[in-house]
Amino acid sequence: MTDTSSNQMWGGRFASGPDAIMEAINASIGFDRRMAAQDVAGSRAHAAMLAAQGIITDSDADAIRKGLLTVLSEIKEGRFEFSTALEDIHMNVEARLKTLVGEAAGRLHTARSRNDQVATDFKLWVRDQIDAADEGLTALLRALLAQAEAGADWVMPGFTHLQTAQPVTWGHHMMAYVEMLGRDLSRFRDARARMNECPLGAAALAGTSFDIDREATAHALGFDRPSANSLDAVSDRDFALEFLSVASICAMHLSRLAEELVIWSSAQFRFVSMSDKWSTGSSIMPQKRNPDAAELLRAKIGRIFGANVALMTVMKGLPLAYSKDMQEDKEQVFDAADNLLLALAAMTGMVGDMQANRDALAAAAGSGFSTATDLADWLVRTLNLPFRDAHHVTGTLVAKAEAKGCDLPDLTLAEMQDVHAGITADVFEVLGVDNSVASRTSYGGTAPAQVRAQVSRWKEVLK
Ligand code: ARG
Repeated sequence: MTDTSSNQMWGGRFASGPDAIMEAINASIGFDRRMAAQDVAGSRAHAAMLAAQGIITDSDADAIRKGLLTVLSEIKEGRFEFSTALEDIHMNVEARLKTLVGEAAGRLHTARSRNDQVATDFKLWVRDQIDAADEGLTALLRALLAQAEAGADWVMPGFTHLQTAQPVTWGHHMMAYVEMLGRDLSRFRDARARMNECPLGAAALAGTSFDIDREATAHALGFDRPSANSLDAVSDRDFALEFLSVASICAMHLSRLAEELVIWSSAQFRFVSMSDKWSTGSSIMPQKRNPDAAELLRAKIGRIFGANVALMTVMKGLPLAYSKDMQEDKEQVFDAADNLLLALAAMTGMVGDMQANRDALAAAAGSGFSTATDLADWLVRTLNLPFRDAHHVTGTLVAKAEAKGCDLPDLTLAEMQDVHAGITADVFEVLGVDNSVASRTSYGGTAPAQVRAQVSRWKEVLK
């Protein structure tokens, strides 16, 4: 709704109100109402500090603090009337507070500005999202660990270039994502620790002449300390950018896993069946079961990357300190956070509910000459061939099997000896996929024993 009179927060200097288009471009209340709880928390901490410092009276502070809770419940219950003329959440809350508690409300803005107020609110909001991402990632890690533990010794093909490379275990493949997403978790925690300084009290840009206690407000809001430079405090959004960067890396990991689920659930692979809960059918092709959740997740990730680029672009040309450009920080971060949390929840559901098709995995593991490297290693170890020669002999054997239309273990000993006379019957030991994976016991290798060791290490970490 439009209010044509001059603004009640700074009307003193203004003869007329803004043009309607100005109001439309200027207002952020359409989106920053999402920070209502953070705004009220920041204002309550500020009012308590002002009273403790003797800057306002205790009774004013009490009225303000109670009134703010009333405002918040009105907002939460959908009873609050937001006004575009009042621009943003900060002024909407303060104006409503004034109608509720009268004159005391006007004292709340002592020794602060919307610049430190919005920086504080936004930081609190981003911090909440980091905590939610922490929870979401932990749940996903647990789901992956359960898959890894169940299938620590299930063989499947490992790929490079999406061509069969060497057999690996299902558990090992799951644990690769545990490592990736585990690093994302630690990146979110690093970002949280770095951002946890409170801008409140930086005021417009220069600090304030009032005798405020910034330690008190910082601690009341769960920050480790107040930020040390008032110009920096109101004018950087690197905490939001760091959130978006970490979110982008995490999203990229989720997208790769989503891509694998799409491939694996296809009729050509049949490595997994996705639960009905995460699939859809086709209105025309009755046989279809589409992995829509994985596909959408893969696609939504682009919005998170986009938000990162958009906010970088908003910030890159701004002189110190605050510029109104910075109001454009929020929608990008809101959207990215929503989609990241949704993607984490969907992936946790899909991973938890999917069924690995053990037989299809094993059949695929043994095809495509996947144990060729094992054969070459055997020639090195048993016949003392230089690896390059062993590679050549193995290549010749692969070509022979390919011509015959069979896999390596299906060649006869005589056929093998035609290529290299020294080959003996115990070569067949290493051509089996189970032996192949069991032999890869180097630290971090695919052997079931290694996988189980990593599963227990991670269980300990996530305790
Ligand atoms: N809605 C504004 C924002 O999001 C609040 C800060 C306004 N500060 C100002 N000096 N106009 O950035």
